Amino acid sequence: MSGFVADEIQAYIDRLVRRPVEGETVLREMEQRAQGRPAEGGKPAVRRFPIIGAEVGAILEILARSRGARRVFEVGSGFGYSAYFFARGVGPQGEVHLTDFEQENLGAARDYLGRAGFKTRFVFHAGDAMQSLRGELAKGPFDVYLVDADKHRYPLYWQTIRPMLRPGDLVIADNLLWSGAVADPEDEDADTVGLRRFAELASKDDGVRFTLLPVRDGVGVALKL
Ligand SMILES: C[S@@+](CC[C@H](N)C(=O)[O-])C[C@H]1O[C@@H](n2cnc3c(N)ncnc32)[C@H](O)[C@@H]1O
Repeated sequence: MSGFVADEIQAYIDRLVRRPVEGETVLREMEQRAQGRPAEGGKPAVRRFPIIGAEVGAILEILARSRGARRVFEVGSGFGYSAYFFARGVGPQGEVHLTDFEQENLGAARDYLGRAGFKTRFVFHAGDAMQSLRGELAKGPFDVYLVDADKHRYPLYWQTIRPMLRPGDLVIADNLLWSGAVADPEDEDADTVGLRRFAELASKDDGVRFTLLPVRDGVGVALKL
């Protein structure tokens, strides 16, 4: 067992989901970077990085395509792995907004997404994701939102996005299982509490249909009715 499911099950899923796609070489580079590596041969160590992974990536693309999404906002983009799938989902007429407070991440995202050859428009917001989100929402809504940044602030992201949702809009949130910690009533860590609260807010909201998919670390999907 190396990740979220037994190795042989993961290998089976990979064979089905990780089919060759456009920009594949770049996607594989991103996946390798996410695995990290120790310092060797004079090269500095690269730390492991939490990306959503190929099966959640496919979910993002499928949802964006079925929504006919043109505008996507990501709360927490890292070096652009999830944005890659959204770019496939929104197509050349689309626009994907990336946020991250680490300039280095967004610089890498710009490089990877550029080399993957997308015609999609990418808008990079360096700095605090909440500030960028509020600034963009003041100009207009998005069709799809991904919440994948600081876990303790998930409820705040929900409350900020929720009033802007139009029927058919989607909010997708990663890590809602938090390796199972959310189901442990004794775990009162701020991140665990934030993730639980997000799921509670979305699931108790009569204006949305919500589900929690137990894919990898748990993917929440909320559809505005
Ligand atoms: C889990 S990673 C995002 C991974 C990305 N969605 C993917 O799957 O490729 C979370 C990212 O959010 C960024 N982050 C966390 N809190 C943030 C905040 N308040 N504002 C901006 N970026 C933030 C971190 O720097 C990190 O790169």
